[in-house]
Amino acid sequence: MTPSTTRRWFLGMLLGLPIASPPFPSFAQPLPKVTVTKDPSCGCCGAWIDHLRASRFIVDVIDSGDVNRLKARLGVPRDLASCHTAEVAGYVIEGHVPADAIKRLLLERPSAKGLAVPGMPVGYPGMEVEGAAPETYEVVLFGGTSRKTFARYQGTRAI
Ligand code: CU
Ligand code: CU
Repeated sequence: MTPSTTRRWFLGMLLGLPIASPPFPSFAQPLPKVTVTKDPSCGCCGAWIDHLRASRFIVDVIDSGDVNRLKARLGVPRDLASCHTAEVAGYVIEGHVPADAIKRLLLERPSAKGLAVPGMPVGYPGMEVEGAAPETYEVVLFGGTSRKTFARYQGTRAI
């Protein structure tokens, strides 16, 4: 869909005009590149990168021995920190944020620093624990000083 047809769709929606088809059925535009910085020895980071690639993101990976320095520079609050830190289209993606939540962020473009899944939820790709049910966790939308729940997930499924 071209920018002008997207615009027309939004205007149509605002004006209550009939809409033939949903505008972003599957985010048909090419997705922006995601740059992931991770520790070279992190295994679950690789599983998350595979998950992003399977969801059609182009991913660049930077192995770094000091991911914490990047987190500090990008303004990731300490209590929201996880293993890897990613950047996409001006947003920061901290930890195991599901690809679908990133797509929604890119469509909605809220004014915020980015999304975070703090810690390491059990059951997420790369963090399955045999016999354990996938944990329910929150995807947090954070800014400089504010934050709110952006979505709730269990594994890679929004609930
Ligand atoms: Cu991890
Ligand atoms: Cu990781």
